[in-house]
Amino acid sequence: MRGWIVPPPKAPVKSREVLRKEREKKVRWLIRHGYLRSERIRDAMLRVRREDFIPLDYKDYAYLEVPLPLPGKDSTISCPHSYPLFYEPLGLDKGHTFLEVGLGSGYGTALAREIVGSDGLVVCIEIDPLTFEFGRNNLENAGYDDIVLIKGDGGTGYPQMSPYERICITAACHEIPPPLIEQLDEKGKLIGPVMDRGNQDLVLLEKGGKGFKKKVICQVLYVSLKGSYGTG
Ligand SMILES: C[S@@+](CC[C@H](N)C(=O)[O-])C[C@H]1O[C@@H](n2cnc3c(N)ncnc32)[C@H](O)[C@@H]1O
Repeated sequence: MRGWIVPPPKAPVKSREVLRKEREKKVRWLIRHGYLRSERIRDAMLRVRREDFIPLDYKDYAYLEVPLPLPGKDSTISCPHSYPLFYEPLGLDKGHTFLEVGLGSGYGTALAREIVGSDGLVVCIEIDPLTFEFGRNNLENAGYDDIVLIKGDGGTGYPQMSPYERICITAACHEIPPPLIEQLDEKGKLIGPVMDRGNQDLVLLEKGGKGFKKKVICQVLYVSLKGSYGTG
């Protein structure tokens, strides 16, 4: 993983209780550093056990600010602050229809499901078959049975359940894939990392009227999008 120092794999020794305390501490840290502001996102981060979405040999690192490797090619679970970093500007909230591109571990998907609640809808697409199985099993084991999981190319979206009020892309692209813009609700918001001269900007698009408002939130470092709108 370019740019990150990943700790060495090791057998887990931390108890549920130790990890619960680390989770609470992490949430306080995210609030203090301005990443986490809304109550629903905070509650979701307290409720979802991130360690349940991490391969055994990395579980003890669940609350470190590093992305950790997942089964599949170049797949990672993003570092903890990434989730409020994306979901706060997106304004993800109760009742939203939400599309995520890049299931990874399923952790971000579980958070989204907690945030939108049973009035909302979460659809998530993963292109890597090994990662897909890992993420799907994690969600199933954690008791999430009403998330729509699609194995395929998220760059083309999932028109069957569109329009989406919120869309999140969790891999870096050269441009936002046009099908995702088409599948965004007329007042929807989309967020994702876009490459720009060797850097990656976290870009927020807000649809409205006849066009878009575009805002760059900050620079980020994500794995590349694959598939028909991929960067490879
Ligand atoms: C940074 S990881 C996602 C982390 C995830 N949000 C989590 O909580 O673990 C990015 C994921 O996007 C997937 N991906 C890359 N290109 C994709 C595409 N075209 N369609 C769907 N998934 C894609 C990768 O295989 C990888 O699993």
